[in-house]
Amino acid sequence: MFFPQFRARRIRGSETFRRMVRETTLSVNDLIYPMFSAFGNGPRKEISSMPGIYQQSIPDIVAEAREVYALGIPAVLLFGIPEAKDAVGSDAYSDTGIIQETIRALKKEVPGLAVITDVCMCEYTDHGHCGIIKDGDVDNDATLELLAREALSHVKAGADMVAPSDMMDGRVAAIRETLDENGYDSIPIMSYAVKYASGYYGPFREAADSTPQFGDRRSYQMDPANRLEALREAASDIEEGADIIMVKPGLPYLDILRDLRNEYNLPLAVYNVSGEYSMVKAAAQKGWIDEERVVMETMLGFKRAGADIIITYHAKDAARWLKQR
Ligand code: PBG
Ligand code: ZN
Repeated sequence: MFFPQFRARRIRGSETFRRMVRETTLSVNDLIYPMFSAFGNGPRKEISSMPGIYQQSIPDIVAEAREVYALGIPAVLLFGIPEAKDAVGSDAYSDTGIIQETIRALKKEVPGLAVITDVCMCEYTDHGHCGIIKDGDVDNDATLELLAREALSHVKAGADMVAPSDMMDGRVAAIRETLDENGYDSIPIMSYAVKYASGYYGPFREAADSTPQFGDRRSYQMDPANRLEALREAASDIEEGADIIMVKPGLPYLDILRDLRNEYNLPLAVYNVSGEYSMVKAAAQKGWIDEERVVMETMLGFKRAGADIIITYHAKDAARWLKQR
C-alpha cells in the first residue's frame, strides 16, 4: 500500500491516536539508580563531571535511598570507595568493608528497596585493575576466587542481587557455585556480560576513584569493534548461570542490545554509563539541548533496542518526569 491510499500521517494526527499506536513505553519499574558509598562521615562530594551525583557517607546514602524508594525506583546499584586500598583489594571482601556496611544500613532503613552490588576489584585495589596482578597483567583464575568471596560477603551483608563487572572468564560460574554452596541459591546474578573497553567510563573513574595506575583494561574488557564476540560472551555467561545479562555502555552499543534481544530470552539490562550522562548534563547546562526531552528519548531508545532494565544516573529525574506525564 502506497500513497495516496496509504497516508502515514493519519495515525499521527492527534495525541490520542499516537498513544493508541505507541509501540514502546518506559516505566519507573525499568530503572536502576547507581550510587557511590564513601568511607567516613564527611560531607557529600559532587563528582565534578557528573552534576547531581555524589560520593557520600552511609547516612547520606540512606537519605537518598529513601528518596529513590519514594519515587518508585525498584533498585539501586552500589559502588564502594574504601578507606584504604591494597594490591589484593582486601576491603572488597571484608565483613566490615564499606559496601558491606552500606548494604546493612540500607536493608535496615529502606528494606523495600532492592540492593544490587557491583562485584569488581578495581575500586579496592591500589593499582586500580579489576583483579590481581601477575607479570604485569590481571591473573584471571586467581581473581575468580576473590570475586566469589566478594560476592558472598555482599550477600551475607544482605545484598539482594550481585552484578559482576570485572570481565574475567568464568566469574559467573565461580560466583554461582560459591553462593549455592553457602545456601544462597536464590540470589540472582546480573552479569555485565558484554562490557566494552570504553572511553565513556571516564567520569565514573573519578566517581569511584578506580583509574588503572598502569596500562588499561583492554586485556579483559571487549574491543568496541566486535559484535559476534558479544554473542559468545553472553552465551557463556548464560551457560554459567547468569539470570540477567547486561550490555555496557549503552548508546554506542544499541545494535549489540538488539542482537542479544533477538538471540536470548533472558531479561536484558543496559548501562547508560557515566560519560553518556556527563555529555547530556553538559549540553543541558549550556542550554544546547532540552534535558528532559533528550533523556526520555534516550531511555525509550534503550527500550526499543530491547532493554528490559536501564541502569542510569538519570533515574531519579526520569522517575519524576514519568510522574508528571
Ligand atoms: C568497574 C565498573 C566500571 C563501571 C561500572 N563498573 C568502570 C570500569 O570498568 O572502568 C562504569 C560505569 C560508568 O561509567 O558509569 N569495573
Ligand atoms: Zn573493575
